[in-house]
Amino acid sequence: MKQIALSGAMVVALTCAAAAQQGPGLTAPQREGQRLFTQHCGVCHLKILINVPAPNGPALSNKVFENGAEASVKARIADGSPNMPGYKLMFEPAQIDAIVDYLKTVNPPPPPAAPVRR
Ligand code: HEC
Repeated sequence: MKQIALSGAMVVALTCAAAAQQGPGLTAPQREGQRLFTQHCGVCHLKILINVPAPNGPALSNKVFENGAEASVKARIADGSPNMPGYKLMFEPAQIDAIVDYLKTVNPPPPPAAPVRR
């Protein structure tokens, strides 16, 4: 029972995390990319709750394109890494493009707040 309540809370939290990043002006492909990202990547790349440990992947934002590495970001999503699954068998290239289009709209998260001293 507790488990069911917990997973319900996670769905709500995930939805909120996605909603928080939803700019009003997302195009249809960007919205599709957001949906795919939240469903398939969020488990590692989105911090869902304040009291849940950070996921094991880095927070992703438009910063990953800073060195103009769009092709390498797409290759990373397609091929994965030793720590991340590859998605080339799961997604069409257009779906990877949509995720990349969406990530370009995501601003980096603010730096963590300083710890409170007691
Ligand atoms: C099982 C956990 C996991 C999942 C699921 C996952 N990733 Fe990752 N990802 C990682 C980890 C861990 C890294 C850190 C670098 C490394 O060791 O590969 C990473 C790195 C990345 C990077 C490189 C970031 C950088 O700074 O260069 C990109 C881009 C990326 N992931 C995109 C995605 C996308 C898009 C998806 C969903 C389609 C996804 N990941 C799903 C774990 C995951």
